[in-house]
Amino acid sequence: MAKRRVAILISGRGSNMTALIEAAAAADYPAQIALVISNIAGAGGLAKASAAGIKAETIESKPFGKDREAFERKLHEVLVAHDVELVCLAGFLRLLTPWFVRQWDGRMINIHPALLPSYKGLHTHERALADGVKIHGATVHFVVPEMDSGPIIMQGAVAVRDDDTSDALAARVLAVEHSIYPDSLRLVASGRTRLENGVCKSDAGSPDDALIAPTII
Ligand code: GRF
Repeated sequence: MAKRRVAILISGRGSNMTALIEAAAAADYPAQIALVISNIAGAGGLAKASAAGIKAETIESKPFGKDREAFERKLHEVLVAHDVELVCLAGFLRLLTPWFVRQWDGRMINIHPALLPSYKGLHTHERALADGVKIHGATVHFVVPEMDSGPIIMQGAVAVRDDDTSDALAARVLAVEHSIYPDSLRLVASGRTRLENGVCKSDAGSPDDALIAPTII
């Protein structure tokens, strides 16, 4: 089967982007990273993408100011020009209009550093720590107009420790992100996901073991 052409949209360091690029290097991976686009000039991920031999472009959102759709029309034009079939948001710090989301309905996925629908928005690790939750994690989901919503493709969880700092927790969640994002794209790109009443299901298996935290010693 031909590999699906994927664009990754970033705004920053691009560690999830790197995880996707590395996974896509495998011969049996169902997607190829055709293009990386940053809306921020000089974003760290751009150099990493180029070093990996991936075409990296900047389309600055700033000059468009509040005209979100004008920026997105430009973005959309570039995606179409590169025959992109799927879009992965990876630390892309720009809210998208319903117009753009509609163009990529069912073909755009995002990673969020929390177990959605808990902790939508920013500062997820700080908020999880302040609430004292014992299990936290990350979510990959299809993008819908409402922020950090949309059918959930895959989640990964970590135990929260009593002595956690938000940085330490973020680092453990990030390691989970680097695992679930490439796996999620694998499922989506190979057509192994389906929507049933707004819920994403797939033919991937689910483990029987529970994550319980804390554990009594
Ligand atoms: C990640 O934590 C991701 O979940 C969130 O933004 C961060 C991006 O990090 N959406 P990176 O640029 O992929 O390293």
